[in-house]
Amino acid sequence: MSTNNNSLQVSNNALEFWLRRLHSLTGLIPLSLFVVFHLTANNSAIKGPEAFNAVVNILRSLPYLEIVEISILGIPILFHGLYGLIITPQFARSNLGAYSKVHNWTYYLQRITGIIIFIFIAVHIWQFRFNEDLDFEAVAIPLRQPAWAIAYFIGITATVYHFANGLWNFFISWGFTIGKNAQTVSGYICALIGLIVLTIGYSALWAFYSSLPN
Ligand code: HEM
Repeated sequence: MSTNNNSLQVSNNALEFWLRRLHSLTGLIPLSLFVVFHLTANNSAIKGPEAFNAVVNILRSLPYLEIVEISILGIPILFHGLYGLIITPQFARSNLGAYSKVHNWTYYLQRITGIIIFIFIAVHIWQFRFNEDLDFEAVAIPLRQPAWAIAYFIGITATVYHFANGLWNFFISWGFTIGKNAQTVSGYICALIGLIVLTIGYSALWAFYSSLPN
């Protein structure tokens, strides 16, 4: 009986190990890559409506778009998001005391931003993805309203924090940054990448918020 229980425990641990690896990997590929690409594409709005509309037309005319979206984005985001929500309540790390105060905060914020992103992505897809005639004006109409602009400001900030801190965690999880020095250097690099991506996201949002109606 106890041998059975032990082997069940071993297979549960193995399953959790692989789920965690997959969760970590999907956070980077494809989700982080997509977030950077998506914000950069939307940043074309700073050059004006024509530039933004041209980018939307190119993206929407890509072959097999729906299949690519569902397989490369939909399934990974559902897995990463739902598994992320499942592990979010496991707040108490067994060795919480071993980490510095800053690391404990960044750990909590990773989970809090995950919840915010989950809601934000659902609203964002509902708002824009199913609009067959999407163009600059269709995005600008809600984003000129302060309430929506604030919601997007929070959504972008949470997403980029989760991305930059996630990147830092990823390098640790996969054994790329082992020593304290390596983690400090990687912390600065991830923070810098985060600030650059944040600037790209904020300036895209500002382009819509400050635009004049047609
Ligand atoms: C859809 C809502 C999301 C939820 C609920 C969520 C949840 C989580 C949670 C709880 C963790 C921490 C895992 C741990 O400490 O073991 C995490 C890690 C991570 N997430 Fe997300 N996430 C979401 C979306 C995203 C998005 C859109 C991206 C892309 C920017 C992303 C990128 C990452 C990365 C890179 C990590 C670090 C992986 C690692 O520790 O090795 N996540 N996520």
